[in-house]
Amino acid sequence: MSTRYFLDIDSPGSFDRLKKRWHGERPVPLFPQTVQIQTISGCNARCQFCPNGHTINRLPMGSMDEDIFRKIVDEVVQHPVRRISPYLMNEPLADPRLPDLIRYITDHKQSATSTTISTNATYLTDDMGERLIESGLDNLLISFHGIRKETYEASMGNLDWETHLNKVNRFIELTRRRKAKKLKVTVTMVHTSTIDGELDEIRDYWNAQGITVRIHTLENRSHPYVNGKSINIKPMKPYSNCDRLMGQAYILWNGDAVLCCVDWERTTILGNVVKESLENVWQNEAYTQYRRNYLAGKVSGTLCEGCKVQEESDFKFKPSLSILGLLSGQPYPYEPIPPPSSPPLELAKKPLPVITD
Ligand SMILES: C[S@@+](CC[C@H](N)C(=O)[O-])C[C@H]1O[C@@H](n2cnc3c(N)ncnc32)[C@H](O)[C@@H]1O
Ligand code: SF4
Repeated sequence: MSTRYFLDIDSPGSFDRLKKRWHGERPVPLFPQTVQIQTISGCNARCQFCPNGHTINRLPMGSMDEDIFRKIVDEVVQHPVRRISPYLMNEPLADPRLPDLIRYITDHKQSATSTTISTNATYLTDDMGERLIESGLDNLLISFHGIRKETYEASMGNLDWETHLNKVNRFIELTRRRKAKKLKVTVTMVHTSTIDGELDEIRDYWNAQGITVRIHTLENRSHPYVNGKSINIKPMKPYSNCDRLMGQAYILWNGDAVLCCVDWERTTILGNVVKESLENVWQNEAYTQYRRNYLAGKVSGTLCEGCKVQEESDFKFKPSLSILGLLSGQPYPYEPIPPPSSPPLELAKKPLPVITD
């Protein structure tokens, strides 16, 4: 269950604060615990559940000035943040500077802070892979939805299955050859009706290579495009008690701080960190009032009003540890298996969702 928050400034007495803490509530932190920074806007893919394709040609696009990036990082590293993620609603590896920008974070961050990016692997060339390993990155999430050609291509729109599977496999092989133990690679995907029939195959394929798979529950991203897809397996419920706006900051390429990582339409801009500090923006009146309203259940007319999530939690498939392997420094058995190639029975019967982009 997510944490319940309260606003310190709205709980003036220390007794009141103690009471709330006693009941498991936490004050909204004075600085975000995680920070996402969009170094470049846009994404080459057209995933069936992602608003990207519906915003890319309408909204101003660009890339973040390196001085601004460094200014943000210089501020963030003064605080004990949990995670810095140099991506936001984009394809991070479309920015060729990314490994150098990650290196800047690595060189300045506090030791308890980790770095994470999530990629669709299109730009994951051997050279990019080498540079990412060298950058000191901690977590690389690779979005690979489904394992069969039919489901992957139905999920990821215009991306070719074979090309991308090869890129991911080559990269996994590279991390193994380079003994890149610091960098944790996870394959992730969204749990939709498109991939639901092959979860066992997905688990077997990636776990055989020692790779953990994380399955995210489907969100509607508070966007009519995703709502209209009907690819959920379970009912969608309102995303109540969300902690994103309490602990996570989201900064676009031009310095605008948006409310949430689902705010593809940039509906709720709460400040800009080019001229102001992130700390000032995080604590400003616009942010505080939004949080106050949210905590009081007043979401009518806001981005949060339409936000829904499938009724289930994220889950993981982890490869099983081998004791012998642990002793030999290779904790997981590494026995790649060929990817499944013919359509599974359920898909053969059922037509795949149509991509309308
Ligand atoms: C928006 S993407 C940006 C990074 C990169 N382009 C990628 O796909 O990994 C970040 C994460 O959001 C996930 N995502 C996109 N649309 C989603 C949805 N409707 N529900 C849940 N997760 C979603 C993606 O699968 C990915 O793990
Ligand atoms: S989920 Fe990621 S890869 Fe897919 S369209 Fe959205 S931003 Fe691009």
